[in-house]
Amino acid sequence: MIDAINSLARRVPAWLVYLAGLVPPVWLFVLALNGQLGVDPVKALEHEMGKLGLQLIIAGLCISPLRRFVGLSLIKFRRAIGLVAFFYIVLHFATWLALDMGLRLDEALHDILRRPYVTAGMVGLAGLIPLAITSNNWSVRRLGPVRWQKLHWLTYVVALAGGIHYVWLVKTWTLESLMYLAVILGLLALRIVKIRKRMHAAA
Ligand code: HEM
Repeated sequence: MIDAINSLARRVPAWLVYLAGLVPPVWLFVLALNGQLGVDPVKALEHEMGKLGLQLIIAGLCISPLRRFVGLSLIKFRRAIGLVAFFYIVLHFATWLALDMGLRLDEALHDILRRPYVTAGMVGLAGLIPLAITSNNWSVRRLGPVRWQKLHWLTYVVALAGGIHYVWLVKTWTLESLMYLAVILGLLALRIVKIRKRMHAAA
């Protein structure tokens, strides 16, 4: 089964992920135009992009453990998954800025500084920027694989910030938002165990 998925994955080009990534926003846009996205279509778009962005950030973090524990090799899709997640979070942020803040930058800054869940979201977005900028072969060569990999540990900070942002913003904690955070903490724990094992082996 795993071999079949791996051989299928080898044949699927990574650019298909970018193409597939365009489907949800375009589809949501079409639904909004047809009045099928509820009374507040832009709000619905904001929510969907935030949720999908978080799901893709988590999916990107799952790729390494999937290879380690199950032998599933999806590494070639990791960059595309990360960049599509970035695209969704930028759309999420842009709808917030346009819709919730009415493009008033002073009010946006006020909210970023005063509302802890918005601050957490902003930490996530800020972390995604260097990750997106360095998601290319030129940056890997320029930084060197070790420094590049260290920088990309930032993905865990981004995921944590996104997970906390989600838990915090829903006033009554939902099982769903807590589950996202639990998965992120689980993936972080796996990574810490791996690093500690490597350090013990080197000592
Ligand atoms: C890594 C970065 C981020 C992630 C993963 C993320 C994720 C999410 C998720 C999952 C939701 C809940 C969606 C739902 O209820 O279905 C949400 C809502 C929200 N996010 Fe983000 N977000 C991020 C960054 C930001 C930023 C930078 C801002 C603005 C500065 C922001 C503003 C909001 C607001 C205002 C809501 C609530 C909308 C409402 O219910 O009125 N987010 N976000």
